[in-house]
Order: sequence, then C-alpha cells, then structure tokens
Amino acid sequence: MKEPVRVTVTGAAGQICYSLLFRIASGEMLGKDQPVILNLLEITPALKVCEAVAMELNDCAFPLVKDVVVTDDPAVAFKDSKIGLMVGAKPRGPGMERKDLIADNGKIFSSLGKVIDEVADKDIRICVVGNPANTNAYILAANAPSINQRNITALTRLDHNRAIYQLAEKSGSDIASVKKMTIWGNHSVTQVPDITFTQIDGANAADKVDAAWAKEEFIPTVAKRGAAVIAARGASSAASAANAILDHMRDWCLGSESGDWVSMAVPSDGSYGIEKGLIYSYPVVCKDGDYEIVQDLDVTDFIKGKMVESETELKEERDTVSDLL
Ligand code: NAD
Ligand code: LMR
Repeated sequence: MKEPVRVTVTGAAGQICYSLLFRIASGEMLGKDQPVILNLLEITPALKVCEAVAMELNDCAFPLVKDVVVTDDPAVAFKDSKIGLMVGAKPRGPGMERKDLIADNGKIFSSLGKVIDEVADKDIRICVVGNPANTNAYILAANAPSINQRNITALTRLDHNRAIYQLAEKSGSDIASVKKMTIWGNHSVTQVPDITFTQIDGANAADKVDAAWAKEEFIPTVAKRGAAVIAARGASSAASAANAILDHMRDWCLGSESGDWVSMAVPSDGSYGIEKGLIYSYPVVCKDGDYEIVQDLDVTDFIKGKMVESETELKEERDTVSDLL
C-alpha cells in the first residue's frame, strides 16, 4: 500500500467541493491505489456545514480515505500538504465579470500564500480555482516565494473541456476523437480557445467546421459559457468545475494521454512571447509528475492578436492588486 498523500481543499463546504471531495475520495484524482488524507479548510461560520460534509465522506466508507480533518486554521490545513486545491472564494453573480471579484477574493490568496509558504511541502502542487483564477494564482505565488513556483497553477481545464464539447457537437464527432484542443490566456472572457492544431480522428479539425463558425461562434460560446451557466442555473458551474479540477490534477500527477495535450494556466516562461511570470493558459503535456509547455506551434496572426489581448488583461489585473503582491 502506498503512503497516503495529504490533499488540502479550501472552500470545502461550498458547491464545487460537494462534488469534488467524493470523487477525490473514490480515487478519481490520484488513482485507485493512492490513499489520501483530506484536509478541509473553511471559514469559521461554515465549519458546521463542513463537518457535515466530513460526516458524509466518512459514511461512504471510502477505502482510500485515511483521515478527514476539518479546520478553520490555514496553518493546520496546509501543514506538510502536497496538493492544494484552492476553491474557497466568492463566486460571481449575473452581470459580473470574474475580475470584479478581485477586491474580495485577492486577499484570500495573499494570506493563504503566506501560510503555504511557511507550512506546506515546498513542492506542493497548487491548482487555483477561485476567481479570477489566474490573478489569484499570481497573488498566491508572490506571497509564497519559497514554494516551487512552477507548481502554482490555475484552472482552465473547464474551458478546455467546454471547447471539446462544442467542437464535437458542431462537427458531429465523438468527444473521444477530439485531441489537442488549446486554451490560451486568462480564464476570462478574453480567453482564446484555438482549434488550429486540434485533430478529430487524426484529421485537422479546422477542415471539418466552417472557418467563420470557429472565429465568430466557437470562441465566444466557450469564453462566455460560465456566464451562460450562471444565467441558466442562478449559480456558477459546480459539477463541471469539480470534474475539470480532477482532470487537471490527475493529468499533472499521473500523465496526460499519449498523443494528446491539455490546457493549464501555468507561470509563463516567456513562451509565445508572453511576459514571464504571468499565470497564462498554454497547451501542456504532462509526464512523470511534471508538465511542459508545447513549443513551436505556428500560431495564426488572428490568434496571436487575441493572445496579446488576454495577456494585456492579465497585466491590468495584476496592476490592480499591487498592494497584495
Ligand atoms: P461557493 O460559494 O459555493 O463556495 C465557496 C466556499 O468557500 C464557501 O463555503 C466559503 O465559506 C468558502 N470560503 C470563502 N473564503 C474562504 C477562505 N478564506 N478559506 C476557506 N474557505 C473559504 O462557491 P463555489 O461555487 O464552490 O465556487 C468557488 C469559486 O470557484 C468561485 O470563486 C467561483 O467563481 C470559482 N470557479 C472557478 C472555476 C474555474 O474554472 N476556474 C469554475 C467554477 C467556479
Ligand atoms: C466558470 O467558468 O464556470 C467559472 O469561472 C464561474 C464563472 O464565474 O463563470
């Protein structure tokens, strides 16, 4: 039996976590042979609900769960933690953009960054989910300088999965036949879903759909899907977000599918001319517990222009939180 991995999940009494935690516990994130210790962090007023989630986790009798810790103390939650799923943050409501949450949510990530810096494993793998996810990850990284900065990432896998669905639906293809989807940039309305390199059953996806559809419908539909779910449901995506978190972490830890790539927002190393250090979504291949940005893609001028717009938005978001960096 492997040693248990300590996984810290923030916002554990919230919507996303009600779907996420049970799937981690069943082995869908780290594998069916990997025991876990679940550290659930909540703010004090939500502790009672969090205790109830822990009761239900225990009542499932998951063989892989070795302990469930409920706490409102970040230093307890992150002590020696190897995985941090940073979900705890306010969601947006109708009519808001994700960056409108910076003033409220940014502070959470500066204070948790400091605690992580002090108590977590130095190679903790972090996935920031709370919005605006890329800038919150940037804030966390700036406040956790002793943590392996490469391992501070944000979630754009939900956008990636949404893009695969839209393309499969439009082209009448099986979802499993769609490979090499790409999301560039910010998890915001400026994100750049790109099918230039995507394949459907090994053939170029761009040949299977109308070019005007790819530019004028596909990109905005994927970029505005979060808002469409909020409008339809009255609350932001939860089960699909949880599913994307599992996909992001599973692929990072256990490897992405051979012959395919996935989208992750990671600290830019300057690839594709994006400013170093910004948390920017790229196509990546995951192997041996690490990720590599896919290099040398021949990006079209149209996509490059949109990538720069998304980069500019990230710089603007960063400039508004200079007090937290
Ligand atoms: P929710 O309101 O249902 O749950 C959030 C939980 O976080 C609450 O229980 C709250 O008490 C807790 N919380 C707040 N501050 C905290 C702190 N400092 N420490 C620990 N816990 C804290 O919201 P939700 O639907 O679960 O969404 C959570 C976040 O995820 C939102 O910001 C939402 O916009 C974002 N989100 C991101 C994506 C993505 O793809 N990146 C997708 C969906 C939602
Ligand atoms: C999403 O993409 O569904 C989340 O970021 C929630 C939101 O505010 O859109």
